Amino acid sequence: MLNECLDGLAIKDGGVYVDCTVGGAGHSSAIMKKAKDVRLIGFDADPSNYKKASDRLAEYGDRVRVVNTNFQNLRNTVRKIGWAPVDGILFDLGLSSMQLSEDGAGFSFQYDAPLDMRFSPDQSLSAYDIVNSYSEQDIADILYEYGEEPKSRRIARAIVEARPVETTVQLAEIIAKAAGEHGKIHPATRSFQALRIAVNNELEVLRDALEQSVDILAENGRLVVMSYHSLEDRIVKNFIRDKSKTCVCPPDIPVCVCNTVPTLSPVTKKAIAPSPEEEKVNPRSRSAKLRIAERINTEMSSLSMTSLN
Ligand SMILES: C[S@@+](CC[C@H](N)C(=O)[O-])C[C@H]1O[C@@H](n2cnc3c(N)ncnc32)[C@H](O)[C@@H]1O
Repeated sequence: MLNECLDGLAIKDGGVYVDCTVGGAGHSSAIMKKAKDVRLIGFDADPSNYKKASDRLAEYGDRVRVVNTNFQNLRNTVRKIGWAPVDGILFDLGLSSMQLSEDGAGFSFQYDAPLDMRFSPDQSLSAYDIVNSYSEQDIADILYEYGEEPKSRRIARAIVEARPVETTVQLAEIIAKAAGEHGKIHPATRSFQALRIAVNNELEVLRDALEQSVDILAENGRLVVMSYHSLEDRIVKNFIRDKSKTCVCPPDIPVCVCNTVPTLSPVTKKAIAPSPEEEKVNPRSRSAKLRIAERINTEMSSLSMTSLN
């Protein structure tokens, strides 16, 4: 959904954009090419993706800054660079195809690697720590909550009994044996996803970064978020809904007393999904959901609220 992301960002000449998940710089390169004199800040917590993106975007010189940091540091980093407020912020969540197809950080059970799953080596908690030191109950909760894994208890018990678990392939085999029969997707898929979300505290980090994005978006600036997981999409959907509210008074109060000022307005009512053609070419896009919102002029919206009250 590259074109949908670019349209969602409403890229204009001289605009400043933030790519919170620069990865291989596919989106960032397209943003830079879309209009004249565009500036861009790209974030990636993964040092090897940071390096790849820096190399690919080097041709733009001073108009691009790539930072090797978590997007949880979004507001401070953008302000420190001195480019706030910005005209658009993009999140393309999850893993890049490089992270899935290379063996390094142990994100995939297709490659045998030590259990890690950290986006950045600076983070202290790894998948090894969770798998080898968390209680059976805590592991089951993680698999159920973040992976929606119906056999979470059985899998957690098998993991605890098999300790120490050192590698991705070892873990995938333990899970497959515990889960028994399976359908189209490998029985370890949901558990690996759940562990990755827990290791990187992904849902909390996303909530935090979305809050920060509102503070650095210019008037009419765009927030564009592509997620691949229903839990992430729910967070984005609720965030946009809450920031668009004009009143948060309890329903039994006859007149609004909350003076809520909305800061975002949804650009599309529903999430945008990939076309069947795109799904065919890129099966990973199957679960993608794209949501777009626009920063509202706070003064104008508070004026219109006053006139409504
Ligand atoms: C789906 S990929 C992005 C691909 C990119 N849009 C492109 O065109 O190549 C997501 C990237 O975001 C990074 N990432 C995920 N969560 C992050 C976070 N909290 N902070 C910084 N980078 C993050 C990952 O390391 C990965 O490189």
